Amino acid sequence: MQRVPVRSRRRAQRRSLSRGLGPRAVRPEVGSRLREPRSIASRSSPSGSERNLSDVTAESANPGIDRILLGDNLELLPAFASESFQLVYIDPPFNTGKVQSRKTLRAVREQDGERTGFQGRRYSTELLSESSYRDLFADYLAFLAPRLEEARRLLKREGTMYFHIDYREAHHCKLLLDEIFGRECFLNEIIWAYDYGARTKRRWPAKHDTILVYVKDPSAYHFDSEQVDREPYMAPGLVTPEKVARGKLPTDVWWHTIVATAGREKTGYPTQKPEGIVRRMVQASTRPGDWCLDFFAGSGTLGAVAAQLGRHYVLIDSNPEAVEIMRARLAEPRRAAL
Ligand SMILES: C[S@@+](CC[C@H](N)C(=O)[O-])C[C@H]1O[C@@H](n2cnc3c(N)ncnc32)[C@H](O)[C@@H]1O
Repeated sequence: MQRVPVRSRRRAQRRSLSRGLGPRAVRPEVGSRLREPRSIASRSSPSGSERNLSDVTAESANPGIDRILLGDNLELLPAFASESFQLVYIDPPFNTGKVQSRKTLRAVREQDGERTGFQGRRYSTELLSESSYRDLFADYLAFLAPRLEEARRLLKREGTMYFHIDYREAHHCKLLLDEIFGRECFLNEIIWAYDYGARTKRRWPAKHDTILVYVKDPSAYHFDSEQVDREPYMAPGLVTPEKVARGKLPTDVWWHTIVATAGREKTGYPTQKPEGIVRRMVQASTRPGDWCLDFFAGSGTLGAVAAQLGRHYVLIDSNPEAVEIMRARLAEPRRAAL
């Protein structure tokens, strides 16, 4: 496994980030919230010519608005001031990194070989080994590392990050997160268990995602379990009727359906996550009026939940289609859950 030299880079990177912020920094503030998000992205063409940082900073004179931004998150995040957000939720795509295939080849002399060598001799090429998985894996962590550094910088002292990841990548990402946040800042590993799709008969069918939870400061983080939607007891006969009526506090294993195909939440974005699981994060780790950030925002699930619960949001995605979907989804924030 190729090591990502996070710790050694961290201090220098933070210095350069804070130098780069200066007067251009955007600090979202609780205040005049627009009913419709005046997103920068919403004013770009549907074909989505990427907006650069100057577009973001042009808005910074009036930072107190919810935002939907189109662009590479690594380019946009440095525009925001350190400690701007109470909650970061990210659900990065699996295997974003460039697929590199490192092949080891050997030339073998052969009458019908496809290559011509010295004195017209014919050779064919034999593949000795291929290490594409290792390269892909190393690329993925290298892609994530600077973005996770930004997530940590942007969190308030009381803040929490929820990192949603495929079960195949979770263990490698945990090591990277421990390095960036510090092991002492690891709060939970949440298992989101669902029950959908085909079941292989060759192993235990994998029906869960992992959500790794890190806090900025273990002595200062905000967590209010009283605000979280409760769930039914599995064995209601074993507890009092009062307890049954109240429901129980969720543990770190969350049973929750995926977004229903014909449900009201469905946006059509392929990797959309259910509002129900994101709602728990926002309820527990933020207060009304706090700022929430999702810089792999997709269909904007975090923004939808934040709007319903009276929180503010900044959503970033590099895909113009995602931005269009978010814009439509958040044009009329649903307040039913307030
Ligand atoms: C798994 S999806 C997020 C789904 C989201 N949680 C939801 O509920 O809809 C990941 C998103 O990250 C976006 N993405 C990938 N690389 C990015 C980058 N460098 N900057 C910003 N967005 C990126 C993709 O376009 C995709 O929409």
